[in-house]
Order: sequence, then C-alpha cells, then structure tokens
Amino acid sequence: MVYVVILILFYSIFIYIGEDKVMQPPEDVVAAEGDTVTLDCTFQTSDPSPYLFWYKQDGTSRPQFILSRVKGDKGKTEDEFKERFSSTLNSTMKSAPLKIQELQLSDSAVYYCALRPTVTGSSRSAH
Ligand SMILES: *[C@@H]1O[C@H](CO)[C@@H](O)[C@H](O)[C@H]1NC(C)=O
Repeated sequence: MVYVVILILFYSIFIYIGEDKVMQPPEDVVAAEGDTVTLDCTFQTSDPSPYLFWYKQDGTSRPQFILSRVKGDKGKTEDEFKERFSSTLNSTMKSAPLKIQELQLSDSAVYYCALRPTVTGSSRSAH
C-alpha cells in the first residue's frame, strides 16, 4: 500500500482588535491521506456572540474562506468545503476547532482562524 504523507502547515496568528484575540497553537500537523485531523483554535473576546472564521492559504495565493461559525454549528460553509470540513463553536470553551475528514493531498496548506472576516496584514509566522 502506498502511504501518502500530507503536511499541513499551521502557523500561529494573533489578531488583536480591541481586546479580542485569537490563539492558534503554532504547530505542523502531519497526517496521511484519508485521515481525519482537527486544528485547534481558541479565542478571547468580550463579544457575547463571536463569529469565528477559518481560512485556507495555499502557497502565495490569497486566503480562501472555508467557513464561519457563531454558536455551535450555525454559520456559513463554502460549497467546496461542505463535504469534509466542519467546525463547532463552543462559547464556554471559547474554541472553534476545524475538523477535516478524508484528507487529500490538496488539503496541504496553511490554515488560519480569525475573529474577523479578513486576515490581511496581521499574520506572522511562529517564532
Ligand atoms: C463545550 O465544551 C465543554 C468541555 O468539553 C463541554 O462540556 C460542553 O458541553 C461544550 N458546550 C457546547 C455548547 O458544546
């Protein structure tokens, strides 16, 4: 059996807008094709109904919107990600992990989680 190893680059990104903050653990996730992975994302905000956004950035192209979540499973998911990408926002734990099922080679990318619908200009790589 041929085992294809997929590397998902995952950098930490901190976006501050007022007191709001998003924390992604700096981490490379290595998984095999067909696996299921969960990318963590926790946040701090005074907003009682925060929206969380997940983006995928492949190479040098612009970050691509995957999904947004507000309270539980509510939110929007882009059609092309509906089948294998999911997230549930837990307001108690202040987390919205992204779950990717049946990994494909094309899933290799940098994934961002953000409290605002754009990630332009505020990203930096982990130390
Ligand atoms: C949030 O996470 C906690 C701890 O895992 C769990 O007990 C709780 O039921 C979750 N809340 C929701 C709304 O899923």
